[in-house]
Amino acid sequence: MHPLKTRGFHHITMVSTNAGRTLAFYGELLGLGLVKKTVNFDDPGAYHLYFGDEGGSPGTILTFFEWAHARRGGWGVGGVHHLALGVATPEAQLKWKRRLTDAGVRVSGPLDRGYFKSIYFQDPDGQVLEIATAGPGYAIDEPATALGRELITPPESRLPAGRDEEAIQRETWPEPVSEVTPDMALQGIHHISAITNDLDASGEFYEQALGLSLVKKTVNQDDARTRHFFWAAYDGETVAPHSAMTLFDWAGSTLIARPGHGLTHHIAFRASSAEEQLAWRDHLLGMGLQVSPVMDRSYFRSIYFRAPDGLLVEIATDLPGFTVDESHETLGQDLKLPEWLEPRRRDIEQTLVALP
Ligand SMILES: [Fe+2]
Ligand SMILES: [Fe+2]
Repeated sequence: MHPLKTRGFHHITMVSTNAGRTLAFYGELLGLGLVKKTVNFDDPGAYHLYFGDEGGSPGTILTFFEWAHARRGGWGVGGVHHLALGVATPEAQLKWKRRLTDAGVRVSGPLDRGYFKSIYFQDPDGQVLEIATAGPGYAIDEPATALGRELITPPESRLPAGRDEEAIQRETWPEPVSEVTPDMALQGIHHISAITNDLDASGEFYEQALGLSLVKKTVNQDDARTRHFFWAAYDGETVAPHSAMTLFDWAGSTLIARPGHGLTHHIAFRASSAEEQLAWRDHLLGMGLQVSPVMDRSYFRSIYFRAPDGLLVEIATDLPGFTVDESHETLGQDLKLPEWLEPRRRDIEQTLVALP
């Protein structure tokens, strides 16, 4: 057992075809803060937008590459199925359903997933999003100190045949919700669900590579013939926030995820220091993985590698953080470039479409 255990997700990176539209959706409609406006360091003609809580804390960060001509991505093995954002209560979740529906976004749910309640919708590029309640948590059907031991069969009421879909669809908040009130604040990454064709091998990989622990063995509640397992940063008593990674088992499937807009580009887990990241790099190389050199991303340092089913995974450091080149109060206001791109600022600004 190696001592390297991630504390959870650092960020998730998705693909947008229109940065202005993405800003309106995540900034105005979902009420997230824009914490950094910069360019893709590997492709400086394209925006890279970062959303998050006020200071851009690890675990709350959603980032977007803008690729105007990206084709549509497609679900498959080695891809992310959906991203779930956390919300405090079922009441706040219903307010989100009303707010999104009134804005013309199709919302399904709320569905009782047992460990949380979920509503589902898509962003303008087709990325599947979920808003999930904080509770009641993973200890409803096995002891908090012994999560992930038994295969859990959900009660009939949570499976499609036992649900009153019409009643669920009708349920919403009675009043229009014109502003995002503090009780509705989205609390960052609740969980990320990906698709694999070898659940056992992938699970072992996340345990070995990242120090995650199995916290729930159950079935896909929309397709109970297939397994759905949850991993997280778990110390044997509590599951850390922003750390749950779930895998849908498409056993033996050869349908491989197709990169593009509406599909997550990569997911990033946390390293608490640059030293720990280097130890991690050695550890991953020792597992026989191909790992990138350490890359300086200005706001964190990154290494990249692939899970056995093909998913691109990053480990990013908590520091230095987003206030390295602008103050806390002005985060996200100006276009920020790394020093080595500053000489090209005029060209870059002329290439990018100005954002409001
Ligand atoms: Fe989910
Ligand atoms: Fe990243």
